[in-house]
Amino acid sequence: MEKKIIIAIDGHSSCGKSTMAKQLAKEIGYVYVDTGAMYRAVTLFAMQNGLYPDEGVREDALQNAVDEGKIQISFKFNAEMGRPDTYLNGVNVETEIRQMAVSNRVSPVAALPFVRTLLTEQQQAMGKEKGIVMDGRDIGTAVFPQAEMKVFVTATASVRAQRRYDELMEKATSQAEKDALSYDEILKNVEERDYIDSHREIAPLRQAEDALVLDNSELTREEQSAWLLAKYKEIVSRC
Ligand code: DC
Repeated sequence: MEKKIIIAIDGHSSCGKSTMAKQLAKEIGYVYVDTGAMYRAVTLFAMQNGLYPDEGVREDALQNAVDEGKIQISFKFNAEMGRPDTYLNGVNVETEIRQMAVSNRVSPVAALPFVRTLLTEQQQAMGKEKGIVMDGRDIGTAVFPQAEMKVFVTATASVRAQRRYDELMEKATSQAEKDALSYDEILKNVEERDYIDSHREIAPLRQAEDALVLDNSELTREEQSAWLLAKYKEIVSRC
């Protein structure tokens, strides 16, 4: 049997990391973990519990909630969708965590040291048995610096904003929801998140020295999936 490895996929927001990571996990029978969903779930918890007023996140109160074990995040495979759904304290929050209200607030939460410690420990526990594809910002640098395969994915901000716009348009269930979408607002969100994610003090988004770089601005989904699978085969044959 082939040796199981850890595959770390990091990169900028909205560059299709999770789509390609999910697809690869399916093809090779690995577990897929979306770590961004975990940061989003913590953000949603703060929003739902009055810990994230307009002035900004209430750090002390959020830290208390973390210390008291009030934030439990888990994943359950959704066979119909062919991907794991994210649960916050036993409730499926997959839809809520993808909304703009969460996207606009998640980066400051992801910069909090106690949030990173909590989620990094959980992610390391999930990878103990290997056979995992994990996507995020710091997987190859902080969570699994020893990962056998590391990929750093990127694309220009405008390409990523357009992709997110198309995705939200497709998901919108009413004309009013569609009308509320603004490409400029999405581009601003993408650029702001890039800045915060790359400049935070702890585990900032950066390319691991031993990562394979994939700029997918000009690639189709099929092309990048084929590229990823070929790299996996090459690496696993050497392990
Ligand atoms: O991948 P995403 O857009 O769902 O990520 C949401 C936010 O969480 C984003 O601002 C970056 C942050 N994040 C992080 O800091 N570390 C990770 N491993 C994953 C995501």
